[in-house]
Amino acid sequence: MVRRTQVGIVGGGPAGLLLGELLAAEGIDTVLLEARDRAYAEARIRAGVLEQGSVDLLDRLGVADRLHREGLVHRGIYLQFNGERHRIDLAQLTGGKTITVYGQQEVVKDLTAARLAAGRDLLFNAEVLGVERVGPEDSGQPRIRYRHEASEETLECDLVAGCDGSHGRCLAAIPSELISTHARHYPFAWLGVLAQVPPSSDELIYAFHERGFALHSLRSLEISRLYLQVDPLEDIDNWPNDRIWEELHARLGAPGWTLQEGPILDKSITPMRSFVAEPMRFGKLFLAGDAAHIVPPTGAKGLNLALADVRVLAEAFTDYFHRGDSTALGQYSQRCLSRVWKAQNFSISMTNLLHLNPEDDSFGRQLQRARQQYTVQSLAASTALSENYVGLPFPDPAFSPPG
Ligand code: FAD
Ligand code: PHB
Repeated sequence: MVRRTQVGIVGGGPAGLLLGELLAAEGIDTVLLEARDRAYAEARIRAGVLEQGSVDLLDRLGVADRLHREGLVHRGIYLQFNGERHRIDLAQLTGGKTITVYGQQEVVKDLTAARLAAGRDLLFNAEVLGVERVGPEDSGQPRIRYRHEASEETLECDLVAGCDGSHGRCLAAIPSELISTHARHYPFAWLGVLAQVPPSSDELIYAFHERGFALHSLRSLEISRLYLQVDPLEDIDNWPNDRIWEELHARLGAPGWTLQEGPILDKSITPMRSFVAEPMRFGKLFLAGDAAHIVPPTGAKGLNLALADVRVLAEAFTDYFHRGDSTALGQYSQRCLSRVWKAQNFSISMTNLLHLNPEDDSFGRQLQRARQQYTVQSLAASTALSENYVGLPFPDPAFSPPG
């Protein structure tokens, strides 16, 4: 069977789903193809912090009711260095901006429900096998080949949005000589734990410790989300629950404060890396989110960047379909990358500030200690951190209309 649509969206993660909603609001037709089944896609535990701009965007689309009911607005975070805790007042340092703690899988559930309720095409178990006729030299309509419940199908469209994450097919559809990739690897990974216990802190705690980094986060008033820096080759089987709690107590411990324990519902290890592919466009194929870039999670930027990309993309697609104007399509990659590189810079600086680098010498350790002190002692440094953490302005000032 051959289906037809204006925009073929590959991937039903936050980027693909949000793009579908933004385009629907403009009356643009989309078909969304998601490789996994709905239960799997809605259960994946990933990011948990939404920037103010991400919340505002979901609000504008009318898909933020549950987010406002269940999401937790935070006005600050704690930075902790070897047991010494410092509060960074994000709201005070950014003219009132806040972050909202709301699991990525909850965003995915809300967007999926909105799409299905409106009767828009969303195919689960639809694995994209290839994207064809998208190049600037290709004639004919772009075609997406996919396998849906054991049969091979084709989707014809005017434009393709590659929102298929870091293991997708869309990036691979771009000839390697037409794309530059930039990557960094780190000598650590994060062991993430979901625990059925009320959070022990009212705000996130990012902790540097000589045994390694730890993060105390949460998903709700009943569920804590905790992370430990581990070796990238570490095996999860080496981390029985007792060892995890012991290490969390050691790294997060501070005078007068107790970490509450509870049943561990989930644990996994995620390697950490930075990656950027540029440009994020090849003819009629546009990459968005993790398909084009990965940031280390320390700055909580991955999900927010994915949402920011599709916001730019939706505006460009709207100009193209409604006004026949391709100018914004031409600027898409540049506009997104301007934000992406700033987010890389912030995520890497947070990572370096807070992780124990096994490759560092004593000189490097002392510099790290000096940076930690400076970050909490200097108003300018803590303001810069806050400004990045709550999310840089949108649109990027370099691309705002003058005045
Ligand atoms: P994804 O969420 O990856 O969505 C891509 C979708 O495409 C998926 O649903 C996938 O099934 C689908 N897909 C893939 N291939 C195909 C295909 N061939 N055909 C059809 N569909 C396909 N960020 C943070 O800020 N904080 C965190 O703590 C954090 N933790 C993370 C933990 C893990 C294990 C991972 C992988 C990422 C984490 N991130 C975190 C990053 C954040 O979750 C991502 O930046 C975010 O998911 C990006 O959204 P996306 O829509 O671009 O990609
Ligand atoms: C999370 O809650 O999963 C989380 C929070 C902050 C981060 C990364 C992950 O920097």
